[in-house]
Amino acid sequence: MRLCMIGTGYVGLVSGVCFSDLGNTVHCVDNDKKKINLLNQGKIPIHEPGLDEILKRNVKQKRLFFTSDLKLAVNKADIIFICVGTPTKKKSNSADLKYVFQVAKKLRKYIKKYRIVVTKSTVPVSTGDKIEKILNSKGRKKIVDVVSNPEFLREGEAIRDFVYPDRVVVGTNSKKANRIMKSLYLPIIKKKSRYFNTSRKGAELVKYASNAFLATKISYINEIANLCEKSGVDIKDISFGMGLDQRIGDRFLRAGPAYGGSCFPKDTKALVDVAKIFKTDLSIVKTVIKSNENRKKILANRVYKILNNKIKNKNITFLGVTFKPNTDDMREASSLLMIPRLSKKGAKIRYYDPTGKKKEFEKFTNVKFCKDLSSACLKTDLIIIHTEWNEFKFLNFKRLVKKKNFIIYDLRNIYSPIKMNQNKIKYFGIGR
Ligand code: UDX
Repeated sequence: MRLCMIGTGYVGLVSGVCFSDLGNTVHCVDNDKKKINLLNQGKIPIHEPGLDEILKRNVKQKRLFFTSDLKLAVNKADIIFICVGTPTKKKSNSADLKYVFQVAKKLRKYIKKYRIVVTKSTVPVSTGDKIEKILNSKGRKKIVDVVSNPEFLREGEAIRDFVYPDRVVVGTNSKKANRIMKSLYLPIIKKKSRYFNTSRKGAELVKYASNAFLATKISYINEIANLCEKSGVDIKDISFGMGLDQRIGDRFLRAGPAYGGSCFPKDTKALVDVAKIFKTDLSIVKTVIKSNENRKKILANRVYKILNNKIKNKNITFLGVTFKPNTDDMREASSLLMIPRLSKKGAKIRYYDPTGKKKEFEKFTNVKFCKDLSSACLKTDLIIIHTEWNEFKFLNFKRLVKKKNFIIYDLRNIYSPIKMNQNKIKYFGIGR
């Protein structure tokens, strides 16, 4: 099939590349000409393991194209995906849909015959109705079916999540559009990857409800971890014991720092905001938002306690600063609150992250990026394992630090407290 992906961010680029790898002809469009030039040189502006190889293969086979000419791309496509950002508005919790509606207004000019327009961006319930009004404006015969097809891609695992999804959700009441969408996804619909057709608003809400539930699950186990710390229980036992119940499931039950990323924080707030419009109070999701924000402060205070409130001139090392491994994304990472707080208290902070130096910390004079683990850990007083990159999982801390009396604060519970004690290393974890 001939597809047009509008927006080449985490969603649009990954989906476009993967769709082309299924044999479709895909034009990826972005109004950021610099980004399009980079992509046409085979350079990828996001960190997504494995994406570059698939991109290069499909560009070579002339199935994948990058352009900033929306009109050209629309004319070469039967299905047009809107994959632009829907960030949280500055002064409110609502999703900013200006980019979505800007695209819809342009599409109205360019679309002259039947097309399917798909919202893959995460949009509040009933956004599809608004897009439909723009595209099928009065006096024009209805020539567009507007479909909701939310993505469930995790950063760092996006290709796997695209090719092996638990489900493909398509929101439309149009039999024709549903038939076309089902044939588009046929190559990846298997027994395990279900194709689910529902209403357009249903598909829009499934996305928010899923993300808010996952965020709730994480905040829930994080709060239980707080109780474990006070009651001398190991949270890993609780997660394991709970996860054996198939109704609960063992995934997304790992206690850690606050959840971050571009989705959970944004989508939980947007869901509460949309519910308000429909005069519904989502008290649980509201509490999750508050609990997660508060967690970053709890972690920073825990560091003060670990260092007996003697922070000034203490050498503190962060291993990893991104919101999760296998991504360079810093959005809503706990480090964005913890490092500035510790820096303001006079700590001397070094950090090492496999994805390199972060602009977010450049303004802090006592925060330094180190190119490797040894220079980050040498002679440090406290190592905070912030992100669970694989390369942090088998470290010989004594050889790295080269001094006695250092402390480990393991925010991802990578290491065993028992083994740390056996090695006479002072260790703190989460919920243990
Ligand atoms: C999420 C959803 O998983 C995905 O379906 C949606 O399309 C986009 O948002 P993403 O934000 O990329 O994906 O990462 P995810 O792996 O879900 O992690 C989100 C946050 O939760 C991270 O900060 C991660 O560290 C944290 N997390 C995740 C936990 O703290 N514990 C867990 O068990 C799982």
